[in-house]
Amino acid sequence: MAKTMIVTSATSGIGKAIAKKLLKESTDKNDKLIINYFDKNQMEEMSNELSDTDKEKVTFIYADMSTYEGMEGFVNDVLKVSDKIDWLVCNTAIGTYKKFEEYDYELWDTILRTNLSVPTFMVQKFKPHFNNGGKIIFMGSLCGKLSYSSSLVYSVSKAGVHHLAKCLLKEFDGQNVSINAIAPSFVETPWQKGRSQESYDRINRKINLHRFAQPDEVAKLVYDTMTNDFINGTLLEISGGYEYF
Ligand SMILES: NC(=O)c1ccc[n+]([C@@H]2O[C@H](COP(=O)([O-])OP(=O)(O)OC[C@H]3O[C@@H](n4cnc5c(N)ncnc54)[C@H](OP(=O)(O)O)[C@@H]3O)[C@@H](O)[C@H]2O)c1
Repeated sequence: MAKTMIVTSATSGIGKAIAKKLLKESTDKNDKLIINYFDKNQMEEMSNELSDTDKEKVTFIYADMSTYEGMEGFVNDVLKVSDKIDWLVCNTAIGTYKKFEEYDYELWDTILRTNLSVPTFMVQKFKPHFNNGGKIIFMGSLCGKLSYSSSLVYSVSKAGVHHLAKCLLKEFDGQNVSINAIAPSFVETPWQKGRSQESYDRINRKINLHRFAQPDEVAKLVYDTMTNDFINGTLLEISGGYEYF
């Protein structure tokens, strides 16, 4: 049966890899993939990479997911494309490498809002529109579980996302919608572009496979999770064997 699938912030890094994986696996010509974008250039670049068949399935929708209003507009635009939805991947996040002492309330609030509050209310708005058998995936992070990150607020937001995935289960009880979170450690995406070689080397020493994940490795886990009907309420780690010490 044709599905409506949504991925937020899906024109770069992990989100883009997930969107491409969903298109690769899509066999029904009536499948719809709704891609949220923030950067017009990234959207145009990705659009140019799609085949004609994929283009027929894809709708790009702009939204600033750091605001409630941006998310609300996005939900309304999605529901104009399809009143029923099947798969939702909440992938948007922002971070900071500022030190705790340099934080102000606005920075803390913006990151918590973007990474945790906005996705929570997006799920609330989409809830009545989920088809039986629907799936929700939240993009978490291993730093929401281990306190290795230098970014306190980002780590706390991701810990919240992990718990949100578990707690929402009760809210969806009886609706047959599975909800899970994925916790990658380090993934080779533009997110990591400012990292020095020294920093890469230090992290790679702690990863048993001595490398960062590729975005398509995370996308595969997202897809495998969504196509397994009994994985529910779980935090799935994809870390290459990260040892924090
Ligand atoms: N990369 C890692 O090592 C890693 C590890 C664990 C978890 N994660 C998680 O994976 C997810 C994706 O990260 P990534 O590594 O793929 O990063 P990325 O390549 O930098 O992609 C992030 C995307 O989010 C967009 N974005 C930023 N602010 C936005 C907003 N206000 N509204 C809508 N979209 C916005 C960015 O657009 P612009 O480029 O225009 O800012 C970009 O397209 C995040 O949830 C992140 O926390 C990543």
